[in-house]
Amino acid sequence: MTTRYRVEYALKSHRRDQLIEWIKGLLAVPFVLHSQPTAVFEPQKETTDQMANNAQRRYLEIMRDVEELINDHIRHQKAGTEEYSKLKLLVPSIGMFFTPLYLHDAFIYQDSQRYISWRRFVAPSFNDIRLVLNTAQVMSLIRSGPLELVTFDGDVTLYDDGKSLEPDSPMIPRLLNLLRDGTKIGIVTAAGYTSARKYYERLHGLLDAVQDSDLPDTLKENLIVLGGESNYLFRFSAGDPDRLKYVPRKEWLLDEMRLWQEDDISALLDIAEVALKDCMKNMRLDAQIIRKDRAVGIIPMPHHRFPREALEETVLVTQKILEVSAVGRRIPFCAFNGGNDIFVDIGDKSWGVKACQRFFKGINGGKTLHVGDQFLSAGANDFKARAACTTAWIAGPVETVLLLDEIAELERVVDRKNR
Ligand code: IMP
Ligand code: MG
Repeated sequence: MTTRYRVEYALKSHRRDQLIEWIKGLLAVPFVLHSQPTAVFEPQKETTDQMANNAQRRYLEIMRDVEELINDHIRHQKAGTEEYSKLKLLVPSIGMFFTPLYLHDAFIYQDSQRYISWRRFVAPSFNDIRLVLNTAQVMSLIRSGPLELVTFDGDVTLYDDGKSLEPDSPMIPRLLNLLRDGTKIGIVTAAGYTSARKYYERLHGLLDAVQDSDLPDTLKENLIVLGGESNYLFRFSAGDPDRLKYVPRKEWLLDEMRLWQEDDISALLDIAEVALKDCMKNMRLDAQIIRKDRAVGIIPMPHHRFPREALEETVLVTQKILEVSAVGRRIPFCAFNGGNDIFVDIGDKSWGVKACQRFFKGINGGKTLHVGDQFLSAGANDFKARAACTTAWIAGPVETVLLLDEIAELERVVDRKNR
């Protein structure tokens, strides 16, 4: 048993989110006890609605209890004793909470969308809980408002993998509404280019819409792009043909980032390049190396797809080699699996989000939301943003649109109450 558990853990821990798995386990008990799978062939003792109400009541009790455990953990954080919170004992990988989470209310909302309590055969799932957590997070941010900064990942969050933000994207009017409300927007993407033109190509739908909008320049300039995770900053600029102006590093780097030496940066990328080449050779990957000044990666030859296992293996091997290297302890880096490529970037999205917060004159983590698709603990790049702010884990652009609609609706509710 122990051995099997250990093998499973060693092999899969990087592909699990412990908090979500733990909540899923808690909800499995009322599901087993209160769902009625036999109702499909037995005369019904209870109507489906009665069963659902019963199950929902139990689910909600659990959500309330978890909410309380998180509040207790936050109290420990404030006292500097988070290592001793009960939640930390139950979910050892738990990180920092920037705000409480309204899990009870969020469950009611997601239940009205997904009919979780109405299900008789399918227990509350990973995706149900992921979406409840997202809703709980935005409820907390909006109720304690205002939400000052939203940072978005690019690929798979604002547009499909490798694609661009086109003029007809439903994302665009919603992003414009955020800007109109005075919320700042940072696009914190791993895609690392030194020229504004490249970002214009990926983001032209949004940049042109902002340009053509009736927003005052001060609000337009609340849109920034931080590329290469934490390496290249551009600010919206109406006067530029590419709508973006490069902001020199000396104007926005955090003090700690100024300590990253150029020699160390290239030494780290050299080690990463050797590791990537080794994986290419060992796994016969039909790939090519891309070396940039702040990143190194492998991309497939045209029309080729890497097997998922090879992508994961390459990213884990490379990350391990860098972690144990001397320079890897001095310079933060992010090795990740981009779906059909692998990159190692200098810095990571925690630095990217913190740089955005600082650029906008010091916004704190409890007033910032990072929206992204990569939140597994290894080989994923949005995960690091959790060190800088609150987060929402979406599975694709369609969910980002729904999340922005939830934010807008919650803002309306809060406005009505305050009126
Ligand atoms: P994100 O999802 O917006 O963070 O973008 C990740 C994708 O950007 C990767 O999967 C790559 O395809 C692409 N990319 C282009 N240049 C770079 C780079 O310099 N570093 C990392 N990713 C890059
Ligand atoms: Mg992404």
